Amino acid sequence: MEMLQTESPSVGRLITSNECVPPYTPVRQVADRFFNSTQIDALALVEGREPVGLVTRPKLLFTLFRRYGFELYGRKQIITIADAEPLTIQEDERLDVAIDKALDRPAEDIYDEIVVVDGRGQYRGLLSVKQMVIQQSNALANSIIQKEMASERAKELEKISLIKSRFIANVTHELRSPVNAIIGLAELMKISCEKGYVDQLKDRLSLLMSSATNLRAVITNILDLSKIEAGKMDIISEHFDVVSILREVAETTRILIGSKPVDVEVVAHDGPVFIVSDPIKVRQILTNLASNAAKFTDRGKIVLTLGKEEDRLKILVSDTGIGIKEDDLNKLFVAFSQLEDTKTKRHEGTGLGLTITKNLLNLLDGSISVSSKFGEGTTFEVYLPLNQFKNEAIASFHSQ
Ligand SMILES: Nc1ncnc2c1ncn2[C@@H]1O[C@H](COP(=O)(O)OP(=O)(O)OP(=O)(O)O)[C@@H](O)[C@H]1O
Ligand SMILES: [Mg+2]
Repeated sequence: MEMLQTESPSVGRLITSNECVPPYTPVRQVADRFFNSTQIDALALVEGREPVGLVTRPKLLFTLFRRYGFELYGRKQIITIADAEPLTIQEDERLDVAIDKALDRPAEDIYDEIVVVDGRGQYRGLLSVKQMVIQQSNALANSIIQKEMASERAKELEKISLIKSRFIANVTHELRSPVNAIIGLAELMKISCEKGYVDQLKDRLSLLMSSATNLRAVITNILDLSKIEAGKMDIISEHFDVVSILREVAETTRILIGSKPVDVEVVAHDGPVFIVSDPIKVRQILTNLASNAAKFTDRGKIVLTLGKEEDRLKILVSDTGIGIKEDDLNKLFVAFSQLEDTKTKRHEGTGLGLTITKNLLNLLDGSISVSSKFGEGTTFEVYLPLNQFKNEAIASFHSQ
């Protein structure tokens, strides 16, 4: 609705002046008004409240400065030299219609002003045609921009809805697989129990536990993201050693790698490096990155490097895995997005890990960036503030 209005506002809103004089005012007196104010380009002649003519500056000058002009016309009533039938338009007329009418006048009658009247034909003011045309072209430009923005927004919403439906399909799959495994294993365990096969029971129990752990990870991710989005993720601030977290994360990564020929290394300062931040969140960030590295690397190595850049702590998580195409780099931190085709997907996951990581880093006043070569490997760079870094280790903690 708003858009239609901008496309064609009514003329009443554009009135530029409501100057007027009675029709019987002497020409000389009207000329004085024009000479005293350069702002006045035209005056309406109004009797009672009804417009009866219009006199423009060019017409007046032309009349007065003709030979004997002053003598002939100076004392006459202004109505004698005015246009007695100026173009008159109602204030609620649409701008585009008014412009058509103004431009439709015979060539000799075209001047810039038109008279605007209300519903009862009473004088409201003067309006410049130039002003109307400017207004109309602005309105047109605005409406084109608005239409373009609306179509961009529609495209954006379509994309979001596509990503969300892919996510629901994906999450359902990620939730259903461990649940199915848990139910199947529980049934098998019941049989093992009945038959008294304790060893079999133990094997099945550890499989069941790993499926349950998997399920918990997926649910935790979903809950974490909704907490972050609702602004309800609490952050604590503690003094802790980041090197020991790095080593713990490396240990977990080795477990995730299993039997794949991938080495996991930590490159860090020998002693502890203390920072003040939220240790649980820092561990979660590094675990997310390292578990991605473990998931997408089949051979080679994963290196966790601790360093310092200017006044920030810098942690690199690099791998020699499948890498990421340049065009895909900007999709990484978009919630629910995974680069693998849903149909041919080889790796598990909900596509939330990196979004959560980025959001957690925002909460910790940190940041993350990524560089990658498709087919060769990927490096994620995490930065955390180091300003509260109060420890002897700083002195010997060199930038790397
Ligand atoms: N180290 C990496 N090497 C190659 N591709 C990666 C790497 N890290 C992330 N990606 C790509 O980015 C996508 C998004 O990663 P993200 O961690 O957000 O989700 P996920 O690992 O698929 O699922 P989740 O972390 O929720 O279990 C991955 O699906 C993968 O396509
Ligand atoms: Mg992940």
